[in-house]
Amino acid sequence: MADKLFVTTALPYANGPFHIGHIMEYIQADIWVRFQRMQGHQVHFVGADDAHGAPIMLKAEAEGISPQDLVGRIAAGRPRYLQGFHISFDHWHSTDSPENVALSQDVYRRLKAAGLIYSKAIEQFYDPVKGMFLPDRYIKGECPNCHSKDQYGDACEVCSTVYAPTDLIEPYSVLTRAKPVLKSSEHLFFRLSDPKCVDFLNDWTTTPGRLQPQVANKAREWLSGKGEQALGDWDISRDAPYFGIPIPDAPGKYFYVWLDAPIGYLASLQSYFASGKARANGEPRSFEQFLTAPETKQIHFIGKDIIYFHTLFWPAMLKFAGPPYKVPDNVYVHGFITVSGEKMSKSRGTGISPLRYLDIGMNPEWLRYYIAAKLNANVEDLDFNPDDFVARINSDLVGKYVNIASRAANFITRHFEGALAYGGGTEALRQEAADIAQQVRDSYQGREFGRAMREIMARADRINQEFDARQPWVLAKDPARRADLQDACSRALYGFKLLSVLLAPVLPEVAARVARELFGLGRPFQWSDALEPPQRIAAYQHLMTRVDPKQLDALFESEAAPAASKTAGAEAARAGAAASSASRESPATMSPTPPPASSAASISIDEFKRLDLRVARIVTAEHVTGADKLLKLTLDLGAETRTVFAGIKSAYDPATLTGRLTIMVANLAPRKMKFGVSEGMVLAASNESGGPYLLSPDSGATPGMRVS
Ligand code: MSP
Ligand code: ZN
Repeated sequence: MADKLFVTTALPYANGPFHIGHIMEYIQADIWVRFQRMQGHQVHFVGADDAHGAPIMLKAEAEGISPQDLVGRIAAGRPRYLQGFHISFDHWHSTDSPENVALSQDVYRRLKAAGLIYSKAIEQFYDPVKGMFLPDRYIKGECPNCHSKDQYGDACEVCSTVYAPTDLIEPYSVLTRAKPVLKSSEHLFFRLSDPKCVDFLNDWTTTPGRLQPQVANKAREWLSGKGEQALGDWDISRDAPYFGIPIPDAPGKYFYVWLDAPIGYLASLQSYFASGKARANGEPRSFEQFLTAPETKQIHFIGKDIIYFHTLFWPAMLKFAGPPYKVPDNVYVHGFITVSGEKMSKSRGTGISPLRYLDIGMNPEWLRYYIAAKLNANVEDLDFNPDDFVARINSDLVGKYVNIASRAANFITRHFEGALAYGGGTEALRQEAADIAQQVRDSYQGREFGRAMREIMARADRINQEFDARQPWVLAKDPARRADLQDACSRALYGFKLLSVLLAPVLPEVAARVARELFGLGRPFQWSDALEPPQRIAAYQHLMTRVDPKQLDALFESEAAPAASKTAGAEAARAGAAASSASRESPATMSPTPPPASSAASISIDEFKRLDLRVARIVTAEHVTGADKLLKLTLDLGAETRTVFAGIKSAYDPATLTGRLTIMVANLAPRKMKFGVSEGMVLAASNESGGPYLLSPDSGATPGMRVS
């Protein structure tokens, strides 16, 4: 029986727009999904926003809107990215939905009936001013080990010691600066340590082919921990106020967001079935029938930071909830994308802005190819390197692949009115095509996309070499050798068709155009088209341009040009997000598309205080080779010196800047840019009609003074 695939990607937090890490994950999953569809498999590929949790609640509150409105605004922005990068989800939903409420409560009731839920009082830090229990990330204080100030409640960023929030010296609430008090509250726990859970997980995680070896090893470590390291039970409840799903038999308590988030995969699938789209996609059965069918495979693509949730909690929840819930068949884990070797901050998505990428007209298929070429099936990080990007696209996609069609097709159109003819028959060619198609198929199936791209490009090299060896430009001048010319070009175009099919999961638009425009096919390519020698072509139409390195400059400069596109205030607001971290419970981030200053939502004084604004003296200001908008500033902050790339070149001659004072955001996370690391931001004012105008303090101010 053919497999029916239910495929998901991790549900992104709905507290901010997509960053390049999300896009990378979607590209990986989308390539695999498109490949499966080309094999004729039925695939149901769904995603959803992960809407619940304290950060979203608090961010909405800070903006003076409801969490539903916040989530709605973020959701409204999703299609631009998904369509822009050709991500072919069949459905997109939200964890803040009736389906998810019903499913989460149902799973909970079943787990309770199975004896796996119990209640226990725990003591936690409580903010008496705000009137809420504080997640670890909302508590700061002095590290008990190295005594660094302002460390989070779970770990010290300076000495890396991990501790409990109660270990902090002089703890304070990030929300109100109040001293938190210990308060007791009943919490509900999922008994993960129950022998039947542990036995099941030992079995599930070691089933051959289910998990990548590195992931299975991690799971084994967790499962075999002893003493302090032993698998603990899981705290699944949170007290009001909380943006989440109410626990049916526990008034004032909500499911911890990580309980309802993965159930959101099923909520999205259910809503997709209810919409009629599953039927249109060849699945006439009900949601429940589909889930329980033996040929249904449930596959999750996720990043390396959320393995614990997906290989322990999630399978155990599904297993003990029982049918129609089914345990995942595979969890495929990828590493993180870095930009020029630099880790991006998960909350801010520094590095590359996906929307900026699209807005400046960069081709989404370049990024898809680049990511494919660098991905393998292991849990390895992947680096976006601008020079490497330019080189790969220009040499592989344009130089090797597209080049074949543009050269061979012109001869065929000019000399043979589009007709192809193969001198020695096509049997040997077919066999070769079958061999490479098989190799590449195995690579895609095993998520070895980098290997697939290398196999494809090696074939492209060979096609080009064989074509050149025939010297078609010489043949074209000799009327007696017309058949030779037609054969050489036909072989090259057969090769081009083969490559187009093999690249179609990665380059869906180009492949669709090749199928339609060049080969006159009335539908997109299927895998089996790789073997069919084409008989005719239409005139070649330009398929893909080269990357201009200037586009990469523009892509990176956007990050450093506060004054050019946004108000200083809005940019400064973004800086507030820099203090937040990758954790689920971290403070919410600000939206990068802020409303105009006049209508900006109000923030609390505490939020403002998170900004470290300082007086800085510009020691040197220099042009940056290759940058259109940037000046490189060296800033004296009193006790230290910083390098900042500022998008103010259009308005300032560097010579006039040296020595003057300005205001900088000093606690903005360092940002790797094409030209170096920028360690902060200077403030400037602008609008449509003018600017940027650098801010200056009144006379008397000296470098390092705090602005408040
Ligand atoms: N909401 C949770 C997931 C719930 S799944 C039931 C979450 N959201 S997230 O927005 O923080 O991350 C979504 C996905 O993006 C995760 O798989 C995460 O690993 C991935 N990435 C986040 N940063 C990334 C990179 N820098 N690179 C690649 N993927 C990254 O976690
Ligand atoms: Zn420390």
